Amino acid sequence: MNTLAILGGKPIIDYPLPLYPSIGKKECDAVMSVIASGSLSGFYGSWGDEFWGGTTIKQFEQRWSERFHIKHTISVNSNTSGLIAAMGAIGLSPGDEVIVPPTTMSATVMSPLFYGGIPIFADIEDETFCIDPNEVRKKITSKTKAIIAVNIFGHPARLSELRQIADEHGIYLIEDNAQSPLGMEAGAYTGTIGHIGVFSLNYHKHIHTGEGGMCTTNDDHLALRLQMIRNHAENIVEPVHMSDLSNMIGHNMRMTEMSAAVGLAQLEDADMHIDRRTRLAESLSSIVAELPGLTPPAVRENCRHIYYVWTMKYDAAVVGIPRDVFSKALNAEGFPNFTGYIRPLYMLPVFQQRTSIGRDGFPFILAPHIRYEWGMCPVAERLYSEEFICFETCAYDISSEILSDFARAIHKVYEYRHELASAVITVSD
Ligand SMILES: Cc1ncc(COP(=O)(O)O)c(C=O)c1O
Repeated sequence: MNTLAILGGKPIIDYPLPLYPSIGKKECDAVMSVIASGSLSGFYGSWGDEFWGGTTIKQFEQRWSERFHIKHTISVNSNTSGLIAAMGAIGLSPGDEVIVPPTTMSATVMSPLFYGGIPIFADIEDETFCIDPNEVRKKITSKTKAIIAVNIFGHPARLSELRQIADEHGIYLIEDNAQSPLGMEAGAYTGTIGHIGVFSLNYHKHIHTGEGGMCTTNDDHLALRLQMIRNHAENIVEPVHMSDLSNMIGHNMRMTEMSAAVGLAQLEDADMHIDRRTRLAESLSSIVAELPGLTPPAVRENCRHIYYVWTMKYDAAVVGIPRDVFSKALNAEGFPNFTGYIRPLYMLPVFQQRTSIGRDGFPFILAPHIRYEWGMCPVAERLYSEEFICFETCAYDISSEILSDFARAIHKVYEYRHELASAVITVSD
């Protein structure tokens, strides 16, 4: 009898899954030639040609701008740095509000805090899991300075609509595009529709440099401010005659020449890396599409999803067993998955315990009137608690043979779910 692995049977996938081979000879050769050149970084934190970085950095930024059809690209050492630089570049000041989604990686909502800004959470859409423009509209006040839209899991937020809202209110739209390089909305690349786009090149992403990030903008002034915050702005304000000194305190967010060399090689092959993962995700979607209670990720009209994470919605009432039991059974069969993604970020201790930080507590002392509590974003909470089942598309190298094993694993768990349900009832009794 074909017993489920979770009940002691033989798993469908009883071999280790191969990891995705993202780095090859091209990247190795590129790094070796930088090392041979003896110049591992071309940056100086003072005014002059070296303020902008070395040869490979400049080449990488130029190629990125060409590939994404954007005027300026500013490389940084992570997307987290890029988001902080973006908050500084727009002139965020203490008490300014920034509208953010709760379903994202924590760096998105931490970035305003570095300048004393206040994250204001707006709920996400049930279909695409990105920030909902209707919820954004409800959160705009006279203190709102920016919206950070996250193109989550590889799917564009409603970027044109959000840009229109931002322009109507004279505020900024920042795109956290960490997960969506070469995603598209209506023919435009994600990361290029807002005032600033921020990409991640950490090693979990479709294309990567180990650690790294890229900021993109069409605005000359924002570009200069991003470049200054990246590289010791305080030393540069005089030579560039900058009179608005707000946030002109710099960091060292500089990328190395070696990372830029890897990035150039990765960028050349970006379509191949993304297409491979996209085909895998689309196959997974077609496997579950016929199974009632499992809803594959939606793709909004005129959009390109690049599937950083493949995320289906689970309906326990239809399938007949709790989500966590289904997920565990899938894992036991060898299909690696996890539930929930990230707990809505307003539940982080930094928000929940801010009143206990004390009189000098940074920085929420400025916002005692803002409440962060469960119930604020019901869609995000339901998806997290009850519905999301995720698979890390970028992690594995999935051949067509493994993919058919995935299909067998999913069908097996689905087919035997009643057996699982009675076993679970017996266990819990
Ligand atoms: C949506 C989102 N924002 C920000 C980050 C932070 O990126 P980095 O690790 O490059 O700082 C990540 C990383 O996973 C992310 O997924």
